Amino acid sequence: MSGPIVVDSVAALRAQIREWRRDGLTIAMVPTMGALHDGHISLVRIALERAARCVVSIFVNPRQFAPTEDLDKYPRQLARDLDRLREAGAHLAFTPSVAEMYRPGFATKISVGGPSSGLETDFRPTFFDGVATVVAKLFLQAAPDCAVFGEKDYQQLCVVRQLCGDLDLPVEIIGAPTVRDAHGLAMSSRNAYLGEAELAIARKLNAVLRQTAAELASGADEARITSDAAEALVRAGFRKVDYVAAREAVTLGSWRRDRNGRLLAAVWLGTTRLIDNVEIPSA
Ligand code: PAF
Repeated sequence: MSGPIVVDSVAALRAQIREWRRDGLTIAMVPTMGALHDGHISLVRIALERAARCVVSIFVNPRQFAPTEDLDKYPRQLARDLDRLREAGAHLAFTPSVAEMYRPGFATKISVGGPSSGLETDFRPTFFDGVATVVAKLFLQAAPDCAVFGEKDYQQLCVVRQLCGDLDLPVEIIGAPTVRDAHGLAMSSRNAYLGEAELAIARKLNAVLRQTAAELASGADEARITSDAAEALVRAGFRKVDYVAAREAVTLGSWRRDRNGRLLAAVWLGTTRLIDNVEIPSA
């Protein structure tokens, strides 16, 4: 099986997209920062079901990292990523440099309101500006019909939907279920930072969230049960809990029992920050 076409310039990406469009082919995009794992590959599979051509971007976007965050140590493994994309059947990998994405003098920032407020933004205030700016650029560069994002980054998925709706970007956003290991740990490139002992603790996050969501659904008091969950996570070995919060599933506003809900959490294990979320079953 031949591997994906690899292009690192916007011009080459657009030339290939133009050729596919001339042939009447539809295009699905999977934006990534590389270090591809089974979660990403599940997004590629969905993209291949939805369109004739699948474009995967691999770009560690410096604009979504704060100066104190892990930009330098974020895993980069392009050769392995391209092997995985070949096995999965992706058609094109877009691997721009930072200079290609942000030319000298770059001075634009897209700031999405609505679902970006609170949760991650309370702890990473510039994160969604960085995400929204790069996602808008990728969509304008590749002009896909649809794009697939994992529900693992649930707030990001809501922010991207808001971005496309507000700016009339004609890209259908498809949310894909989180892929987990056999113990419930959500696949994440940052899991690579964890040793065996930390992995054993990390695997408890989803169980605590599922239990908490079930209790919320059966009528438990929201403030008490989310604070109990945060305490349970610390007892389980997490160093710090940034938040455990119930939200309305689309707007990420306050959760009401008669609406679809989502329980979201961010926790620290040593110097690694993990996020996860689960549905709150309707009562
Ligand atoms: O989820 C990610 O990997 C990134 O935030 C994204 C969407 C590729 C933007 O850099």
